[in-house]
Parts: sequence; C-alpha cells; structure tokens
Amino acid sequence: IFSAVELAPRDPILGLTEGFNADTNPNKVNLGVGVYYNDNGKLPLLEAVKAAEKTRLEAAPARGYQPIEGLGAFNTSVQNLIFGTDSPLIKEGRAVTIEALGGTGALKVGADFLKRLYPSSKVYISDPSWENHRALFESAGFTVENYPYYDAATHSVNFAAMKAYLAALEANAIIVLHACCHNPTGADLTAEQWKQVVAVIREKNLIAFIDMAYQGFADGITEDAVALNLFAASGLQFLVSSSFSKSFSLYGERVGALTLVTENKEESARVLSQVKRVIRTNYSNPPTHGGAIVAAVLSSSALRQQWEAELATMRERIRAMRISLVEKLKEKNVPQDFSFVVKQRGMFSYTGLTAQQVEQLKTEFAIYAVSTGRICLAALNTKNIDYVATATASVIGK
Ligand code: LMR
Repeated sequence: IFSAVELAPRDPILGLTEGFNADTNPNKVNLGVGVYYNDNGKLPLLEAVKAAEKTRLEAAPARGYQPIEGLGAFNTSVQNLIFGTDSPLIKEGRAVTIEALGGTGALKVGADFLKRLYPSSKVYISDPSWENHRALFESAGFTVENYPYYDAATHSVNFAAMKAYLAALEANAIIVLHACCHNPTGADLTAEQWKQVVAVIREKNLIAFIDMAYQGFADGITEDAVALNLFAASGLQFLVSSSFSKSFSLYGERVGALTLVTENKEESARVLSQVKRVIRTNYSNPPTHGGAIVAAVLSSSALRQQWEAELATMRERIRAMRISLVEKLKEKNVPQDFSFVVKQRGMFSYTGLTAQQVEQLKTEFAIYAVSTGRICLAALNTKNIDYVATATASVIGK
C-alpha cells in the first residue's frame, strides 16, 4: 500500500532541528526554530510554571477526558489575557475560546472551520510569512496567496502596498495577520496602520485571522495586544490563534487557543457547537496538563506577576542579543549596516543573508538558520554570539 509514496522534503523549520540534532560539531548553534534558550543555552522551565506544576502534582488529579473545547478555566484565562479582564467582548459573550494543540493546532481548527463556512474563499498571508501558514491553509483545502508586506530594501513594512492590495480583495477573503513580532521579519505595523487595516477589513468585508504566537515578546502583554484591542473595539467578527509555547516555555505541552469573536451571545453558542464538531472529528479533546498549568498561572495574581517578570527577562535578553550582534558585526567590518536588527521585534530577524550564505553557515560552521535568512535571536547567548558574528562576517565576505 505504500509503494507509491514519495519521500517528502524535510520541514523548512523543524527539519533544521533534525539536522542540528544529528550534527556532531561541538560549536553547533541552532538559529532555525523559534525557541528561547537562556544565556547558558538551555531551554528554561519557568519558575511560575514549576510552582503551578508542584501544586498540581501534589493534588494528583485523575486524568479524565476534558470537554471537547478544553478546560473552561483555561479558556476564560486566555480571553482575559488577550482582551483584558474588562473587555466588553467577554461581558457580552461575544468571545468563544477553545483550547488547542499549540498555535498551529489553533490555526488548523480555525482553518477547517472557515473552510466549511466559506469553501470558495481564498486565504492571503503576508509576503513573507511563517513557513507553515501556507502549507497549513492549503492542507485545509484553501488556495493561498501572498499580500505585499516586507520591503527588504528598507527592512520595514511596505504599508502602502499592503493596504492597496487588501483594499482590492474580494469579499470574504481570509487575511492572516501577525498580531506582533511578525514571523519571520520582526517588522510590525504601527497602531495607526492597524487602524487602517481594521477599516479596510470592515469596508471590504474581509475575514481577519490574527495569529498571536509571541504576545509579550515585543513590549509586554498589554502593549502587544494593540492590534487585538483595535479589532475588539471595531465590532467586527474575527478569529485569533494564541500560542503559549514560547511565552510559557511549554513547547512540548502543545498549549494554544483559538478565539472566535462573534456578533452576539446566541451566535457564540452556535459557533462553539460547530467548532466542537471540527475538534471531535480531529483529536476529540485536548490533553490536560499544559492548559491546566497555564490556567493556574494566569488565574493566580502572584504567579501571573512572576510569569510576567520571567517573560520580561526573556524579552530583554533577546533585545540585548540584538544589540550585541549588531555591534559585533560592525566590529568585524561587515560591509552592510545591520542596525535594522535592533529595530525588529520578537524572536526573529530577517537578516538578508542569502540561501547560499545560510548553507555556508551550516556546512562550514554548523550554524543552522532558515534558508530565507531568518535567524532566531533567542538562541544566541554571551558564549556563542562571537562565534556566530565571526561566521556571519566570514560568509558575507565571500
Ligand atoms: C518557528 O517559526 O520557528 C516556530 O513557530 C516553531 C514552528 O513551529 O515552526
């Protein structure tokens, strides 16, 4: 039955980790996947998470099935986190949240649901976007196109082109937007630009699907929700996928959420009933542990405070690595001005390195990056940054 199966190429991001794990070079550095490591190059287990896990372990809860939509306390905590506790959306019952298997799982449940509702809509993702967006929406049956976004010459968003493109789209087109810390470019919209996006979405009857995988990695939890707040205040319906992989360092627990903002409470009930059918025929219901931990941290004011402080430490360390990398590249007299790296936000930098230079980094230095030139700054530390800067200068010089 499998004789006709062809060998698929490795995943452009997770496939790099497979290659990295197999690499025996002691100096190897994985700048591929978006994962935060501390200054010792270790994946942290956050103290707030540890405390919540200790309490949970002591309670030794039995492991029954969760509701199809996941843990109620988790779903409520997510709404409070992304919209703020005083949000009218929550009070009016206009937000429906389901616990999902990471941000990817949330996107896929949302994509499958939208495909049932709008089978002939097309999906538009930013040019460039997270490597998995296109594949994910295509696997849900959609045709996926790019909207203009990044201008490599200015290292920033070409907003005029983006806006003009969106304004020319057909009604019910699905627009995938990055709430903050744009993956892969690190170039975000300003609040003023978000206002204009909301206006175009309304005017053209487009469907916004906002991907929020890095809340807290740009400026802070509240600050990074600026786009969401504008959408929330607009009265529009939209979808949001959240990931807690990075912000809670809970990658392997697969904790995420899909939030659908509806017209009213009655519509919310209908929407939830249908989203539950998508979930039930997919993975039935989510696992218990990760969501329970995130809910415990977010609903305890002490643990929440501790978590936000730990998140700030991660954010500030990444920023320090941005500054240090730019300085070191300058010291090494690279011809380009890399100061744009400091302006980019979140975990990534779109460095402008070519696919060939990225390949050289791998073969000559065991430094792994995405072939588009995206690097994850959160994998740099005070011990490996000099090596990475020297290697980068070397491949640029060639
Ligand atoms: C990334 O972009 O590296 C992360 O979102 C991890 C992933 O699943 O690709």
